[in-house]
Amino acid sequence: MSTIILITGATGLIGFRILLAALAAGHEVRYTARSEDKARIVSSNPAVRKLAPGDRLSSVVIPDFAADGAFDSALKGVTHVIHAGAPVPMPTFDPVTQVFQPTVKISSGILSSALKTSSVQRVVITSSIVANLGPTPPPTAVFAGTRVPLPSPVPSTFSNVFEAYVMGKMVEMHNSDEFVKTRNPSFTVSHVVPGYVFGRNELALDTAMMQTQNSSNNFLVVGMLGGELPMPIHGSFAHIDDVADAHLRVALLNPETEGPTDFGIATEVDYATIFDHVKEAFPKAVVAGVFKKGKVPTLPMKYDSSDAERLLGGKLKSFKSAVVDVAGQYLEQLGMEKA
Ligand SMILES: NC(=O)c1ccc[n+]([C@@H]2O[C@H](COP(=O)([O-])OP(=O)(O)OC[C@H]3O[C@@H](n4cnc5c(N)ncnc54)[C@H](OP(=O)(O)O)[C@@H]3O)[C@@H](O)[C@H]2O)c1
Repeated sequence: MSTIILITGATGLIGFRILLAALAAGHEVRYTARSEDKARIVSSNPAVRKLAPGDRLSSVVIPDFAADGAFDSALKGVTHVIHAGAPVPMPTFDPVTQVFQPTVKISSGILSSALKTSSVQRVVITSSIVANLGPTPPPTAVFAGTRVPLPSPVPSTFSNVFEAYVMGKMVEMHNSDEFVKTRNPSFTVSHVVPGYVFGRNELALDTAMMQTQNSSNNFLVVGMLGGELPMPIHGSFAHIDDVADAHLRVALLNPETEGPTDFGIATEVDYATIFDHVKEAFPKAVVAGVFKKGKVPTLPMKYDSSDAERLLGGKLKSFKSAVVDVAGQYLEQLGMEKA
């Protein structure tokens, strides 16, 4: 059977990068989007067009990903599913309806649809380190296999989007574990569990989008353009290239392979270094006033990414390289020399 990979979240930072990596590797890719307009954001993107995927790339519009049976027809003939289509906690979102519920429901809907689809061999779900850490990072290192006990009952209201995000990711992981135990699917289920993801985003087409429509990269850009984040963020990061590579490798792992099913990518980082990396790589742009030192406070934490390091065959990409990639993209968009 030929490989057909279904990707959700292709209109976002991580899903789009996975889509590019899958196409570059020669795979047939089907992606889901909430509307035709959103599907076109992907198919018309210059980085996609450069790869000239032809009929190796197709889209399916699913207006409501959380509806019952939403993925039934999208999964026809699909061998591998990569589910990166869940919300990040934007301050303007409603914590329950736009963060907690879609995080939990879309994932369980995909698993239920996959159960009805004999071609599916593996489902890979993008989680987050907060699923392993819980609401407050513990003093010792956790890893992708760490499970935080769920509160009883699980709350149904939240005081902010981040609380809803953490609980959504914890519940999603527990539900998926339970699904595997109780439903005994013929496919395997894995999680890729990144810290804050940074790196080049080909969906951000101009400098305004780089600052506001760039998912977690928005925070990195604050640190290089003289802004200030009002709250600290977890001091652990994942390079977008490693995140995409890990999703594809986990999806295509031999199902008979012994070893972990979940893989965390989170390298310790102090965000106070953002500007130092920019200054070292692009001194002229700093002198010209393009880049200025911003404040991104760090919430220190410990995470063990050794499983992902083994999966990717060596060291994970450095924080410095992610900063340089993003600052370099910013200079490209200004039409400035990278120096
Ligand atoms: N970025 C990070 O630092 C980071 C770290 C750890 C884990 N993650 C996880 O990675 C996944 C993707 O994150 P990202 O950074 O790529 O975020 P993103 O750029 O905001 O993209 C989110 C994607 O999910 C889709 N989506 C969001 N809410 C949805 C809903 N209710 N129904 C259907 N689709 C929905 C979006 O579709 P639309 O375009 O239609 O909105 C978009 O394609 C999420 O599960 C997130 O929790 C991200």
